[in-house]
Amino acid sequence: MVTSAPARNPFSPMPSMGDEEFVRWVDLLQRRTGVVVPPDRKSFLVTGLRMRMRETGYASFDTYFDQVLNGARGAIEWATLVDRLTVHETRFFRHPPSLELIAEEWLPQHVQLHPGAAVHAWSVGCATGEEAYSLAMTLDQKLRALDASKVYFGVTATDISNPALAVGRSGLYPRERLVELPEPYRSAYTAAEGKDSFQIVESLRKRVGFATFNLLDVARAPLKKLDLIYCQNVLIYFARERRKALLDALADLLKPGGLLVLGPGEVLGFANPQLTRIGGRQTLAYRRNG
Ligand SMILES: C[S@@+](CC[C@H](N)C(=O)[O-])C[C@H]1O[C@@H](n2cnc3c(N)ncnc32)[C@H](O)[C@@H]1O
Repeated sequence: MVTSAPARNPFSPMPSMGDEEFVRWVDLLQRRTGVVVPPDRKSFLVTGLRMRMRETGYASFDTYFDQVLNGARGAIEWATLVDRLTVHETRFFRHPPSLELIAEEWLPQHVQLHPGAAVHAWSVGCATGEEAYSLAMTLDQKLRALDASKVYFGVTATDISNPALAVGRSGLYPRERLVELPEPYRSAYTAAEGKDSFQIVESLRKRVGFATFNLLDVARAPLKKLDLIYCQNVLIYFARERRKALLDALADLLKPGGLLVLGPGEVLGFANPQLTRIGGRQTLAYRRNG
């Protein structure tokens, strides 16, 4: 919470943003998160900033910019602001072909090659958790179908936005979102919570751990030797030049035989000598060699 903002008259209109100010904010966001805001998304940036400035009592973009750069207090404010400046759109089972590739092709082979070995997955840029729970449901169902229900699996779900992670951790979603969950997942893994919500059942919530993590720090990721990395609809917000380096770093975190799943069309012409593309045209996935 910012405590000493210059007093703002709540009735005065919020400022408009000049080109130079826009470039300054875009540059800060890109340096700190990797996210690029093109000029046609200026209104998204301005709306997010204004919303937060209204809450904290700032009347000028410049003064607020200085506040955000200001030591420990600025870092706390940045952690809140970053949630307003990033897109958290997501859905359960957002890209079925990717989940089918995991369930029908990769996991059966993995279980056959490494009987009894645990499966460690990472949902990178998980937003409010729907992707991580979809992965956990897919793994749980398929391991049971393969008669491997004793195999341990866990999903680490990370994002830069703390409010988004808090939703994921709660596992609580509005009731209308149930339509996103196909059967048998809906009955097996959700329970009504009051009139308007549902919650992911505890047994599945226990399999998913949520943590704050900036993808730009991937070279220092505390996660190693992963079986599955799922990274969709995150890199599209990053500069093309940066995507390849991040993907190379993700590839280094996979075990031999591990799978990296991206969103189709998210990176063009990506190749890494450690990885072999698998799956058809509907998916963009790579298995680590060895
Ligand atoms: C559009 S959502 C995608 C959610 C989910 N992966 C999906 O496909 O449905 C993008 C997420 O990436 C997160 N994000 C953006 N920059 C990030 C960064 N540098 N490190 C970690 N997460 C980041 C945002 O906070 C947001 O929740």
